[in-house]
Formats: sequence, C-alpha cells, structure tokens
Amino acid sequence: MCGIIGYIGSKPAREIILNGLKRLEYRGYDSAGMALVNGDTKIFKCKGRVKDLEEMVNNSNFDGTTGMGHTRWATHGEPNELNAHPQVSHKGYFIVVHNGIIENYARLKRHLEGRGVAFTSQTDTEVLANLIEHLYIEGDLTAEQAITLALNRVEGAYGLVIICTKEADKLFAAKKGSPLVIGVGEGENFIASDATPIVEHTQRVIYLNDDDLAIIKKDELILKTIRIEKIQPVVKELDLKIGEIDKEGYPHFMLKEIFEQPRAIHDTFRGRILPDYSGVMLGGLHNELETMSQAERIIIIACGTSWHAGLIGEYFFEEYTRIPVEVEYASEFRYRNPIIKKGDIVIAISQSGETADTLAAVKLAREKGAKVIGICNVVGSSIPRETDAGVYTHAGPEIGVASTKAFTTQVTVLAMMAFEIGHLKGIISDSFYKELITELVSIPGKIEKTLGVNEKVIELSKIFQNTHNALYLGRGYLFPVALEGALKLKEISYIHAEGYPAAEMKHGPIALIDENMPVVVVATKDDTYGKIINNIQEIKARKGVVIAIVTEGDDIIRKMADHILEVPETLPVFSGLLAVIPLQLLSYHIAVLRGCNVDQPRNLAKSVTVE
Ligand code: G6P
Repeated sequence: MCGIIGYIGSKPAREIILNGLKRLEYRGYDSAGMALVNGDTKIFKCKGRVKDLEEMVNNSNFDGTTGMGHTRWATHGEPNELNAHPQVSHKGYFIVVHNGIIENYARLKRHLEGRGVAFTSQTDTEVLANLIEHLYIEGDLTAEQAITLALNRVEGAYGLVIICTKEADKLFAAKKGSPLVIGVGEGENFIASDATPIVEHTQRVIYLNDDDLAIIKKDELILKTIRIEKIQPVVKELDLKIGEIDKEGYPHFMLKEIFEQPRAIHDTFRGRILPDYSGVMLGGLHNELETMSQAERIIIIACGTSWHAGLIGEYFFEEYTRIPVEVEYASEFRYRNPIIKKGDIVIAISQSGETADTLAAVKLAREKGAKVIGICNVVGSSIPRETDAGVYTHAGPEIGVASTKAFTTQVTVLAMMAFEIGHLKGIISDSFYKELITELVSIPGKIEKTLGVNEKVIELSKIFQNTHNALYLGRGYLFPVALEGALKLKEISYIHAEGYPAAEMKHGPIALIDENMPVVVVATKDDTYGKIINNIQEIKARKGVVIAIVTEGDDIIRKMADHILEVPETLPVFSGLLAVIPLQLLSYHIAVLRGCNVDQPRNLAKSVTVE
C-alpha cells in the first residue's frame, strides 16, 4: 500500500525518482507525486498513474539533486491531486511522503485546527506534516527534534520520508509497521519502500526496524531511534538482480511470472534436496523440526492467495504428519482473542512479508507463547524478522498484483515441510519419501509442459470474455485451487466468480447453473476423481457449460465436458501445482481481452500494509 522513494546526491533526482516510482507502482497506483529540491522546492502531484506524473514533470525544466516520490493507494480521502503525496505543512517547512495510517489523526487535527492550522487535504499525512511543523515552531526545535517528538505522539503505522525546507541537505526517514530500506551509495543515498528502485544504483542496503529514524545526507548516514539513541547501521548485500524486475519481453509482469514458475519452483527446492533424493532439508527449520513434529496443533495464518496456499498446507500436514491443522485469515485470528496452547505451532505465510494483518497476527501469536514459523518470499521483510524460524520461497520478485508464482512456491515449501516432519515421525516411509522427492523434482518440467496449454486458453478466453459470473469447483487438494482460480478471475478481470468444494454445489450454487454459467471444474485424477465425475454430470444435466482441468489422456471427462485443458499426470499431492496453471492463464487472457490493467487491477495493491 503506497510506494515511497527518496534520493539525495549529486545526480538529477527527477529521473531517479520517476524510475523508482515505476518499480514501486505495484504497491498502489491511484495517484502519484514528487518533491524536488534545488535551493528552491517544487512539488508535482496528480491523480492517476506514474506515467501521468511523468508527463507533468517533463513539462517543467525543474530538477534537483534531492527529492522524493510517492505512489498512492488511498486510505484517507479519495484519490485526487490534493490528497496525493507529498503533503506539505501549513507554512511549507515540512514535506512528507507516507505509507501507512496515522490512527489518532482526527484528534491531532482538531488540536492543530484549534491553533490556527489550515488543512487543504483529507489525509492523515498532512496532519503529521503540520504536527511536526507546529512543534518545530512552538518549541524552537531542530527538524530532527520536532520529527522525533511528533513521532512519539502519533499512533498507527508509517514509513516516512520527510524534507525540512530549512535543512534541505538531508532527508529524514522513519519506520513503524511499514517497510523502508536505505540504499547506501558513493556520495549518494536512497530510501525506498523496498529494494526494487534501489538495485540499479547500489547493492548495499540497510533495512530499517520499527522506531528507527534515519538522517540521510549525500555522504553521511545517521541511524537513531525515536527514543533518541544512536544505533550502528547493519549494511547488507542485496540478493536481487535488475533483470528480475523487468518484464523481459512479456507484455505484463503477471504473464512473465506465470511462465517463470518452473524456474521459481526449482529455486524453491534447489539446495534443499538430499543426495539420492532421500529427503529434503530446510535449513531454516533445522533447530525447530523436532518441536514441530511434536506439535499438538498447527495454525496457519495468511491473507489472500497465501491463505489459499495455507489451505492446501492443511491437507498436506494432516495427511503426512497427522497433526491437526487450522487455517485462519490473519485478520480474523488477530481480533478474536485466539486460544493458543503450549505446543501449538503457528505458520505465517506471506509473499511480501509485510501484510499488516499477518504481521500483527504473528506478533500476537508470539506474545501468547506460540512458536511462529514464517514462509515468505521477500528476504529481509518484516514477517521473517518477527518469526522464530522460517523458510524463504526464493520465487524472485513478484510484481504483478495478482499472485501466481508466490502461490506455487508457497505450496512447494508447505509440501517439503510436511514431508520432512512426516518422515521424522515415521509416517512417511523411506521409500515413499524418495518417491515424493523424485516427483517433486519433476514438477518444474511438468509445469513447463502445462504451460503449453496457453494457446488453447487464449481461444477459450475469447469464448468466455463476456461472461458475468463463473463458478469454480474442486475437491480435496483441488478445492483451494478452485478458490484460487476464482480469486484470480475476479481480481484482474472484474468478473464475479465463486470457488466451492464440488460437493457443496448441491447446497446452493447449483441453483445458479444454467446455460449462461461457465463452471470450471478442477478434475485431475486423484482419490476423489469418481465423485467429481458425478458433479460434472450434475452440472451438465442443468445445461451448465463445463471447462474441465483434467489429467492428460482423460477420455471420460473429455466426452462430458464442453472444453478441457490437460495437465500432466502427477501424484495427487502435487496436483494443485499443475492444475492452477491453466486457471492463472485463463484469468490473465480474459482480463487482457476485456482491456483490464492486468498488473495493476483497480482498487488493489500488492502489499497490503494497512489493516
Ligand atoms: C494482496 C495481494 C494478494 C496477496 C495478499 C496477501 O491482497 O494483492 O496477491 O495474496 O495481499 O499478501 P502476502 O504478501 O501476505 O502474501
């Protein structure tokens, strides 16, 4: 939710900020803005995308060697020019870009209005800018003192970059709840919501922690906390290549990321498989495995697509470890005083590692004494830093807002975890373990083959592009895949879609079925295959249009369904990894045909850092 970037150095800041905002646009894209400082200060803001801002900025000759930018996902106040960031204080001394929410902004606003401060926007950020300015003037303070004092008075979450026009040789950056990373250059420094705008300039980064306050000059970096203690910055090397954040010839990041899945899954298990395929070893869990195997209950917490991966994890853990599992939306878990007992293990799944609800749920679970294990993609993000142990998915940056490779790599990690614990508990025999690993290693190749359905999916998408509704059905491991398929369709093509366990269809959704209702049935061969054939017949008897995802060579469903999309044969435990691919492609191509903005669907953001 919202991307922010700051630059201070000797180069023209305008280009650096614009390029950085383009990389951050997946975090929010309803309005954009920037501030440039060069003796004078100039603010550019507009409703819309970074390309609209670029047009506006390019009509001006102004540039600077210091600057900051923002791409917004609106929380307080509709997306318009006034509410876009940067927000400027009443007298113009403080310029602020902000990611997060200041929860006590209304009270602070009333207080400041009482002292004659006039507001021009509806944002909580403008309140913060004015609070800092008010303290600066009233207390005759330095900018650093005023910012520190103000941040001790606000409640909520923030990633902030602040310029004081009276002390414009530095940028101030502060973090609480929303991510910020400093890029350390030679005679120049960067600050951004994540490393993607930084990687083309420097590989040396410092991840800020909650309550950190950084004073960033072009050739000096001071790190403090808002409790006014100086701390020693820890500089890390970025594990990110610039090619990973380019579309590399694909029309959209989403399509690139769908096609990257063979590589991504390979990277997920690379170096984690024992010689002779006799097992897996997840280094991050090495010290926790024994405890995990003795767990009385596993609670999986996540949001969105990661929650769907968690649902598949439930099947894995119950089947292979015999440990009872509950899968919870992080947002529900954290607000209902959940019962956590000694011996419970909580697994938090998050691509970004920054989702506010998941992060808060992790903190709550730890407070209540649970051991918390993370499964995240973004290295160094907040959730891995809050958990006891964890496993990175190594999927590489996922930029398309609709999650694809994050899902399949999360499922891969969950499978490996379940196999390792199941083997330790003696539930998975040595020979079965080897069979599972051998099949896992073949999955990237099988996904490569599955991607061959692309042309057929394009043709199908032409038929279904104008549908208003769709139903997705699956059973067992394939039920969460049906949910994920429906989510993909609604989020990027704005078509209403529902995912259901196939057997539940009879308890309601069957009433929706007629000749206008496409029903996507995920029906690859597993233990429930016979049952799902019955479900297809029930749909056909009511004139529903069936698109079935089937195992290669399935002549039974071929005769019953209106359209089929084939995936290679695999063990049932891996069936979701293959079956989800045609569903991702279907939603992608339908969205493209409908003229939707695939990578940046309306109202959504990649990283939901507000509750
Ligand atoms: C947003 C994204 C989804 C993602 C969800 C959870 O809604 O648009 O694609 O699944 O957040 O994100 P996380 O980073 O925690 O997996």
